[in-house]
Amino acid sequence: MNEQLIKQIEKLKAQRGAVILAHNYQPGEIQDLADFTGDSLGLSIQASETDADVIVFCGVRFMAETAAILSPEKTVLLPEKSAGCPMADMINAEQLRRLKKENPDALVVCYVNSTAEVKAESDYCCTSANAVEVVQSLPEDKRILFVPDQHLGQFAAEKTGRKLVLWPGYCTTHVLITTDDVRSAREKYPDAIVMAHPECNEPVKELSDELLSTGQMLKFAAKNRGKRFIIATENGIIHTLKKQNPESEFFPVTERAICPNMKKISLDKIISSLQEMQFKIKVPESISIKAKKALDKMVEILPEK
Ligand code: 13P
Ligand code: SF4
Repeated sequence: MNEQLIKQIEKLKAQRGAVILAHNYQPGEIQDLADFTGDSLGLSIQASETDADVIVFCGVRFMAETAAILSPEKTVLLPEKSAGCPMADMINAEQLRRLKKENPDALVVCYVNSTAEVKAESDYCCTSANAVEVVQSLPEDKRILFVPDQHLGQFAAEKTGRKLVLWPGYCTTHVLITTDDVRSAREKYPDAIVMAHPECNEPVKELSDELLSTGQMLKFAAKNRGKRFIIATENGIIHTLKKQNPESEFFPVTERAICPNMKKISLDKIISSLQEMQFKIKVPESISIKAKKALDKMVEILPEK
C-alpha cells in the first residue's frame, strides 16, 4: 500500500520539479521518502540553497514560512493547512512591539519557532542548534529580549552567562516530559546516555547528560555508536536514530512526547499537495523583507557542535 503511494509521490515530484524536506519529528515513512531530513537550522539552509522550483515542507507552518522567506522565488507547500506550532502562537507582533517599547535599547532574538510577523519585529533569529552562538555574538552591553521559548532562552542564558529577558512561551510537547520520566528511564537503563532537547523544562535538563537540537542528537549518536540512549524529545526522531545506528539502542523517555501537529502530515496529504499545489505558503513582502534580515543572520551564525 505505502509502496504504491511512494511511487505516486516520486512521479508527481518529478512532474512538479519538487523537493521534499522533512523535519526529524515527522512520521517515519515521511522521513524515509524525503530528499532531506533535518533540524530547523539544517532544513532552513536546505530551503535557501535548493534549486528546485517547489518545496514540499513536511513539518509545521513556521518552517514552511521560513522556507518561503528565505527562497521567495520558490513555491512552498505545506501538505496540511492546520499543522501549526502552539509555541509560535504564544507571542504575536503586537505583544512583541509592546515589549520592545518597554525595553527601547534592547536587541530581540527570536526562536525560529515563531510567526513571520514576530520575526519581522526581531533583530536575530536562532534555532535550538545555534541559540548559544547567536546570543554570544551580541554586544555585551546590550539588553537581550528572547522570544517565545522561555526554556531555550534559559538554556542560552546559562551557556553564555548573559541575562536575557524571557518571554513565557513553551513547547506543549516538551513540557510533557517530567523529571519522574527521566528518573524511571535511568533506573531501567542505568548505562544509557540521556539526550534532551533544550525545549525541555529546567529540572528535566538538569537530570540529562547532553542538551542538543535534533540534528545534534543525530551527530552525537553517530559519534557514540554501540551505546544506549534515552531520548527526551519528540519521539519521531527515534526512527532515524535507529535507522542510522543499528548497533545502538534508543529508548523514549516517555511515550507521551508526541507533537500532534507534526503528525498531521501523511503520504496521502503529500500526494494531494503535489496534485493540487496546496497549501501555498506565502508571506507578504512587507513582512518577509524584514523577517529575512533576522533569518539571514540565523543561517550565517553556525553552531560549534
Ligand atoms: P530542532 O529540530 O531544530 O531541534 O527543533 C525542535 C522543534 O521543536 C521543532 O519544532
Ligand atoms: Fe511546536 Fe513543540 Fe511541536 Fe516543535 S514539537 S512544532 S515546538 S509544539
